[in-house]
Amino acid sequence: MKFFIDTAEIDEIKSLAMLGLVDGVTTNPSLIYKSGKDFKTVIEEISSIVDGPISAEVTSLDEKKMIAQGLELSEISKNIVVKVPLTKNGLIACKELSSKNIKVNVTLCFSSAQALLAGKLGATYISPFIGRLDDIGAGGIGLIKEIILIYKNYEENIKTQVLAASIRSPLQVSQVASMGAHVATIPPKIIKQMIKHPLTDSGLEIFMNDWEKTGQKF
Ligand code: E4P
Repeated sequence: MKFFIDTAEIDEIKSLAMLGLVDGVTTNPSLIYKSGKDFKTVIEEISSIVDGPISAEVTSLDEKKMIAQGLELSEISKNIVVKVPLTKNGLIACKELSSKNIKVNVTLCFSSAQALLAGKLGATYISPFIGRLDDIGAGGIGLIKEIILIYKNYEENIKTQVLAASIRSPLQVSQVASMGAHVATIPPKIIKQMIKHPLTDSGLEIFMNDWEKTGQKF
């Protein structure tokens, strides 16, 4: 499974890229707002660090404007993926941009019916939001399973990759990996949590103490 990093924070991206854990990056208007930086400048900076796909989201609700923004964003770098919302206009933009060989990530997906539409219209990625579904008690993990199954049934025609988004815990990362999600976009905080385990820490403490007791030097 590919790891995309769900952030627009340059320092976080740099430090995780050094660990070899960044296959791509996803951003959205809220993450851009949080970064406090100019949208296109941040996307340019990220593309100077990361070779893999970088999702940059359109900010209009009008399909013609979405297409124009998508074209403009795709000029920034060859690895830009244009993110469009799962609305009627977003799907029109998805079809148009995909027909021009521009990669599209259809975002804010909350049902398998929506995912089927994005798949039929040539999206490169579909982003089902697990955490936000969990927030309303709807069970986001089940949606990932359902979409993978549907796309598998039609794999000759649907090439869309399932990009599990809105991830809130290491457990969710393992769950979507066990289901065969192509990609998970993960906040830096969750990647750091994935490294940690209390038994690793306590086990290491015992090993280090016992090593010291041997009196040996290495
Ligand atoms: C990524 O593409 C999504 O925009 C992101 O995962 C949403 O996460 P959130 O629900 O934690 O804001």
